Amino acid sequence: MKYNTCMRAAIWLWLFSIATAQDAPAPYLQVPSHRQLEWQKQELYAFLHFGPNTFTGEEWGRSQSRPDIFNPTGLDTDQWAKLLAEAGMKGMILTAKHHDGMCLWNTSTTAYKIGNGSWATKRVQTGLDIDVVRMAAASAKKYGIKFGVYLSPWDIHRDPAMPKPGLKGTIYDEPQIFGDSSPGDYNALYVEQLTELVTMKLADGTPIELFEVWLDGASGSDTVQTFNWTGFRDVIRQHQPNAVMWGHQGPDARWVGNEDGFTLPTNWHTISRTQDDVHYSGEELELGVRDGRYWTPSESDARIRDGWFYHADEPSKSGAALMDMYMKTVGRSVNLLLDVPPDPRGLIADIDAANLKEFARLRNATLDRNVVTPDLKTSSSSVRAGDMDSYGPSRAIDGREDTYWAMDDDESTGWIELDLDTVYCVDGFIVQEHVALGQRIGGYTIDAMDNGGTYRAVVSNGTSMGYKRIDLLDKAVETSQIRLRITRANAVPLVQNLQVLGSRNCTGR
Ligand SMILES: *[C@@H]1O[C@H](CO)[C@@H](O)[C@H](O)[C@H]1NC(C)=O
Ligand SMILES: *[C@@H]1O[C@H](CO)[C@@H](O)[C@H](O)[C@H]1NC(C)=O
Ligand SMILES: *[C@@H]1O[C@H](CO)[C@@H](O)[C@H](O)[C@H]1NC(C)=O
Ligand SMILES: *[C@@H]1O[C@H](CO)[C@@H](O)[C@H](O)[C@H]1NC(C)=O
Ligand SMILES: *[C@@H]1O[C@H](CO)[C@@H](O)[C@H](O)[C@H]1NC(C)=O
Ligand SMILES: *[C@@H]1O[C@H](CO)[C@@H](O)[C@H](O)[C@H]1NC(C)=O
Repeated sequence: MKYNTCMRAAIWLWLFSIATAQDAPAPYLQVPSHRQLEWQKQELYAFLHFGPNTFTGEEWGRSQSRPDIFNPTGLDTDQWAKLLAEAGMKGMILTAKHHDGMCLWNTSTTAYKIGNGSWATKRVQTGLDIDVVRMAAASAKKYGIKFGVYLSPWDIHRDPAMPKPGLKGTIYDEPQIFGDSSPGDYNALYVEQLTELVTMKLADGTPIELFEVWLDGASGSDTVQTFNWTGFRDVIRQHQPNAVMWGHQGPDARWVGNEDGFTLPTNWHTISRTQDDVHYSGEELELGVRDGRYWTPSESDARIRDGWFYHADEPSKSGAALMDMYMKTVGRSVNLLLDVPPDPRGLIADIDAANLKEFARLRNATLDRNVVTPDLKTSSSSVRAGDMDSYGPSRAIDGREDTYWAMDDDESTGWIELDLDTVYCVDGFIVQEHVALGQRIGGYTIDAMDNGGTYRAVVSNGTSMGYKRIDLLDKAVETSQIRLRITRANAVPLVQNLQVLGSRNCTGR
């Protein structure tokens, strides 16, 4: 009797240990917030630089022009949104106020707004809207893309170090409150402008939802102004809980470190500094900090033309050039914010539109060719607690975002194998780590089995995996069997998705 109780206890203990081993992996160090994870999934969206510079040919206007300068001859924000949606872009971010300080919405914080110009005056007389931010938000909603705003912290219009003889004696000659030693509180003005934007409603009264607020780090004057990042963040959080706040190093998303549409092959989603700390260098931002203290993934702001604002004489990048950019950003776990500036008519130029469409066609033709289906045969070096249903390798090809292949907690390297069932001409891979539970993987290799039954590495330099990695092969291989090896991880690796890109045969390649 006593012996039996002991036995039973031992069996219960054994069962209990299996049950605990089957628990989902614990989060590893920093993990993304819900808003950060949703934001990361947007991957590609547009930046629209529009304002007085569009009409003066400047990049950093000196706040010398009066609002009459803003005079688009055929403004159509629907054209922007429709085109971007058709080109597969997930949202658009508009410069509500650039460094020159002129506001594109009907703000009550300054007279320096387009609403005070002759374009707006004429429109009001015919009952048309003059609030370009609100118009753009309405168009984004109409075409099903997300909307965000750029509000420049640096404001030349208020900066005493930037003389503005062109505005002297006009109603636009406003108090010079920018700078810690200037009279007045610029942070308070900024918070007021931010508040107007984050509480803005469409003409029909429905609130505008923002997916990102872009707070530029650029400044071209020596005026020292300490920004109240905490205060800015609180205003955004209170009114737009789903909006990611972008800044040089956060708080929600960081600069990629350059404005050229690329990042280093290794990219960590974490860093160890906040917006209030000394700024990282470009290369430090490109890389990030492995196991850093804050989840602050990067976004690459890049341009379809040379400048941020439209200049007629600048060439537009080809679809192929944009595709190359995409591979070096989205293909390396970094969101791509591509600037497509409206021209002086207030429309996206035909050549830019054509290049965006070609870019979309190339993305589709290159990436929308997954040959993996959820029913394919898989195997792996091991499975977490032997629980095939929850953590087996088939979980990496089921097309779901909430499932992944996993091993036991003490295993940091291992492999999964995929039988394609028939020979394919394979030329690329998309792999994703389950970043909802942190970034763990620091090295991976992908092997393809050749005709003789030997695995050969076709991707051998994989480092950080993170949210998404796209590896395209220089030379396609014929294979029916693929193996993904995790060669380095700081905690048990969680592979959420493995796609194999290819076609049935290599004929015509
Ligand atoms: C602009 O805002 C003011 C209030 O600040 C309002 O009185 C005015 O009607 C608005 N103008 C337009 C054209 O929406
Ligand atoms: C410009 O805007 C200010 C403040 O909104 C207003 O008081 C002023 O009358 C406007 N001026 C013109 C010329 O419309
Ligand atoms: C920053 O803003 C917050 C919230 O508005 C405020 O409580 C705080 O005093 C401000 N900090 C500074 C240094 O101005
Ligand atoms: C790619 O093109 C195919 C065939 O035209 C289409 O079915 C698919 O929806 C496209 N995919 C994307 C992401 O646009
Ligand atoms: C890996 O990197 C080395 C050195 O940079 C390079 O020569 C090699 O081609 C790379 N291999 C692959 C499969 O990309
Ligand atoms: C190879 O692919 C091409 C184009 O998809 C197709 O026309 C051809 O029939 C295929 N050949 C074989 C042997 O499957």
